[in-house]
Amino acid sequence: YPPSPPTRMAYNGTKLVHDEAHPWKPLMAGDIRGPCPGLNTLASHGYLPRDGVVTPAQIITAAQEGFNMQYDAAVTATYAAMLVDGNLVTNLLSIGGKTKKTGPDPPKPAIVRGLYTHDVFEGNASMTRADTFFGDIPGFNHTLFDQMVDFSNRYGDGYYNLTVAAEYRYHLIQQSIATNPNFSFILPRYFTGYGESVLALNLFVDGRDNTTVLGGRKLDMATALSFFRDSRFPPDFHRVSSPTGSEGLREIMAAHPVRPGRNLDGKINNYVVHEPSPSELGGCGLYNHFVDKVVSLYPNPKGILRRNLIINLHYFYGMFKNSCEETFPYGRL
Ligand code: HEM
Repeated sequence: YPPSPPTRMAYNGTKLVHDEAHPWKPLMAGDIRGPCPGLNTLASHGYLPRDGVVTPAQIITAAQEGFNMQYDAAVTATYAAMLVDGNLVTNLLSIGGKTKKTGPDPPKPAIVRGLYTHDVFEGNASMTRADTFFGDIPGFNHTLFDQMVDFSNRYGDGYYNLTVAAEYRYHLIQQSIATNPNFSFILPRYFTGYGESVLALNLFVDGRDNTTVLGGRKLDMATALSFFRDSRFPPDFHRVSSPTGSEGLREIMAAHPVRPGRNLDGKINNYVVHEPSPSELGGCGLYNHFVDKVVSLYPNPKGILRRNLIINLHYFYGMFKNSCEETFPYGRL
């Protein structure tokens, strides 16, 4: 059986996380890193296995321990990723590209290609990664990072703050509309795109800084580069002082409202709103979308695969349990 998600960690204040037990190490041959600077950093410091092949429980523990990521957010993101990008039989997930280390693949149309798989979790208009349409997905993109620096100079006195997060997010969307004929910005990317913009502000700032996200918290560019490019905690880094997730998300969405949509017919500057879209954040659109996605990847699972799909879908449901009805596309155990 896939083990239950770990529980909330007991001590959830700030502490030194770049400690002696968790030194940064350069990659060894075969180590995998991916599109998420948070998970990359956790792997490069040994909070996650350094080879980048991980279990859901390891991610949930590491995200809390290393970054003080809020528990429900960590659980939901982890199982969402596991369900679309992981191997549900071996319970392993690559935090980057496809690897044999996750074990034999279940039958197609399952993908099991790791977090780099485009358009299931990973998506367009990333802060420091180019859209898949332009190739070069794996890497940190310095041109984009320079744009982030430029926006931080223009709107944040050289720092990335909530205003910069809103302006830069809007810019990334407009830029992709104008340059990527295949641009799509629909669920779940619509939410994860905004989510990432605030995660960087929420979790990459040292925990001894007492400012709140809405009260002016700011990220300096050297620290940003350390995380986004080098997967590395700054020296002496302390995790944030209380569990934090998507604080500020509503504010940056409200600053420049954009509806989910895509460039139609492979044409740039042809952005058309795509329904259905959830009317409210916290609505059940995200949950239902993911369940549908999973069913499209696993239309007819048997045996252990079916059992593990049921179990992982139930873990994924955790954060939605107070607001949405649970669905059982594969029946119950
Ligand atoms: C991006 C997964 C935790 C910060 C991403 C992406 C994935 C991902 C798939 C790529 C999306 C894209 O840009 O197309 C996850 C999962 C997590 C997790 C499954 C499980 C808990 C974290 C944590 C942090 C974080 C703990 C911060 C400490 C970010 C940021 C980006 C990102 C800032 C945007 C990167 C960019 O656009 O250049 N994450 N992540 N994530 N993640 Fe995570």
